[in-house]
Amino acid sequence: MSSLQQVNPRVRGMRASPHAALQSLAARITQEILQGAQRSFKEVIDLTSGDPQRAGMKSISFVRQVLAACLCPHLLKDTSLPVDVRLRAQSLLDSCDGGSVGAYTPSSGLTRVRQSVAEFLTRRDAGAPSHSRDVYISAGSQVALMLLVKLLAGGEGETPTGVLTPVPCPPTLPGLLDGEGVALVPYQLTEGRGWALELSELHRALEASRGRCNPRAIYVSNPGIPTGHVQDRKSIEEVIRFAAAERLVLLVDEVDQDSVFGSEFISYKRVLFQMDKVYSESVELVSFHSLSSGRMGEGGLRAGFMEAVNMDPEVMHYADVLLCFDISAPVTGQLALDLMVDPPKPGDASYDTYTQEILSARATLSQNAQRAWQTLNGLPGVSCQPAMGGAYLYPSVRLPAGIQEQAEMLGVEPDVLYCERLLQEEGVLVGAGLHPGGDTHHLRLCVLVPPDSLEEALTRLSSFHLRLLDRFSPCEGLKDKDENVNLREKICQ
Ligand SMILES: Cc1ncc(COP(=O)(O)O)c(C=O)c1O
Repeated sequence: MSSLQQVNPRVRGMRASPHAALQSLAARITQEILQGAQRSFKEVIDLTSGDPQRAGMKSISFVRQVLAACLCPHLLKDTSLPVDVRLRAQSLLDSCDGGSVGAYTPSSGLTRVRQSVAEFLTRRDAGAPSHSRDVYISAGSQVALMLLVKLLAGGEGETPTGVLTPVPCPPTLPGLLDGEGVALVPYQLTEGRGWALELSELHRALEASRGRCNPRAIYVSNPGIPTGHVQDRKSIEEVIRFAAAERLVLLVDEVDQDSVFGSEFISYKRVLFQMDKVYSESVELVSFHSLSSGRMGEGGLRAGFMEAVNMDPEVMHYADVLLCFDISAPVTGQLALDLMVDPPKPGDASYDTYTQEILSARATLSQNAQRAWQTLNGLPGVSCQPAMGGAYLYPSVRLPAGIQEQAEMLGVEPDVLYCERLLQEEGVLVGAGLHPGGDTHHLRLCVLVPPDSLEEALTRLSSFHLRLLDRFSPCEGLKDKDENVNLREKICQ
């Protein structure tokens, strides 16, 4: 038997996603440019990664200074560092075994950090109590989510566990569910209502899944990735009541909670604890937050957490067991989580710089989202819902029949072909839609990038889009060709 045949068939069945193929094409083009190849652009601009630091955004000084002092304790005496930085670093080191970031921690995370997270959640949720024993630190929120899915995965007999999952959903989710043998039960978000979640659609999706799987959980992303939709209180209450009635565990990805600009973020936990006891004491809710997104953007430090509410302690005992396999999440990430949930306060030496950096990053995100939304909606055949939070826009694109035919001949989705052409011709990497096979096509754009990169990417994308329409269907999507030419001139000015 070859070693390939010994690979878990479930893993062997996984195919590289179109996105992975686009990413390797982007890497190849970048490499060619570095080796002197002539292109009409000097570099590839990546609007997919959702990784602010990779895109060139700045890190938060307070976080880096405290971590520097934790890693190199001689800096604790360096008076060029603000005093609160040195004090915080010392107190964090005191919470580590051996006073060192090089020591393992308990597998559910440092007690001190779990406590800081619980205090943060209690403050955030208007006093709804949070306990450190219900907080689990992991090497990123995705590890915690995978762990929960693993716990829920055991199907009864031949029937697999099902998880209700939004369409569109985060790109990594289908593979994560599939990897655990869990059936994805799709519920469609309503594009015409800014990608809102409709209760009737949840009922439809659940009904449709009967006999195919055993639905045990519903996954919600709020703020929505990649839609940018932020749920209001009424919508959250509806989902909670639905989960209660159908006895589903609520898995709520709230990693973009600090990146809300067109609305107000309300956590599921807060709403749950303001509902009747019938709900607040029974609905099983697990929420996720991360160091990777929003305020910190420190994905490479690998840390996140989940809070389990009303979960059976015996189930969560197995969460502990599974976390033990990882030994512990990276310690620098855990310490950065502490800084995220307990930032400098008014009067602290770092407060002004910290606040200014946070506000500036938030303003950039909101202005970028607005700018990209305007440009996209100005393009023929493109329609984009306004984002209220998060780092993505998810416009729909009406593609000319010609490119759809080409895509069919090539055996790829039309939006994937669009992205590939855009990358080849203009050096802009955007994500293809996340629900292939439909009549409408979509693009996924991360706008958490420096404004000048975004501006350049939008100019290139607009120019490509108009050229494509000219090439395949000069009149399609536009009243006449002159309009196309005028628009291109306007965009390229
Ligand atoms: C839906 C979603 N949530 C959270 C994250 C952040 O994951 P982590 O906290 O593991 O870095 C990602 C990143 O890919 C994501 O797609």
